[in-house]
Amino acid sequence: MKNEMIYEGKAKRLYTTDNAGVLLLEFKDSLTAFNAQKRGSFAGKGSINRDVAAHIFKELKKKGIESHFLREVGEREMEVRRVRIIPLEVVVRNVLAGSTAKKMGRDEGEPLPRPLVEFYYKDDALADPFLSDDQAIVLGIATAEQIAILKQKALEINQVLQGLFQAVGIQLIDFKVEFGTPSESEGDIVLADEITPDCCRLWDAKSGERLDKDRFRRDLGRVEESYSEVLKRLTNSSGHRFVPGGR
Ligand code: TMP
Repeated sequence: MKNEMIYEGKAKRLYTTDNAGVLLLEFKDSLTAFNAQKRGSFAGKGSINRDVAAHIFKELKKKGIESHFLREVGEREMEVRRVRIIPLEVVVRNVLAGSTAKKMGRDEGEPLPRPLVEFYYKDDALADPFLSDDQAIVLGIATAEQIAILKQKALEINQVLQGLFQAVGIQLIDFKVEFGTPSESEGDIVLADEITPDCCRLWDAKSGERLDKDRFRRDLGRVEESYSEVLKRLTNSSGHRFVPGGR
């Protein structure tokens, strides 16, 4: 049962349920970029993202990676374990793009010699500033042990996601994840939030076409079609490899 709304973000709402350890996460149709300076939406976006996130959480679980996901509810919601979010956005990059390419004055699309893990401090008022590992630890955002766990988990997630997307003809350029600690056992860090085209860069492996939120950020058009395409490829693939151009 959906009770009180306890949080409303740019793309999701969070509600309490009758079970104190379980929350209901609702995916909205809205879409924002540049710290919500740019706003948009399309009908069905919440449902697509819920389905993509649920699919990915289930696939991660098969590989032994725990998340807050419990089960799908209705069209645009999922039950999740109540966790305390660690206020760090953990970004993994396989190919240089976005803010790090811009910061370094380098072209997007440069493959990196190994996955790069970056931390950003999750604070909208500060526009989520980059934080070094040492800053995160010394400034008391996370312990050294937590930072090591976050890095390791982010890299494990990257491995699984790369395989999942590669199998459906998509190159995983980069993504952002968030983690939390379940309230009953503080030590256990689990993947939380979402993994969807909102927080990943996904390029078609053949054409290089962008199938993610950059279509909205950069006014490239076909936003809805691209999000649907990602869902269709992931969920149609169940077991057999995607053949580009083969359907
Ligand atoms: P960036 O290149 O803009 O730093 O983004 C890196 C990845 O993180 C990209 O896949 C988009 C995702 N991301 C979010 O999910 N939320 C954000 O607020 C930002 C800035 C990026």
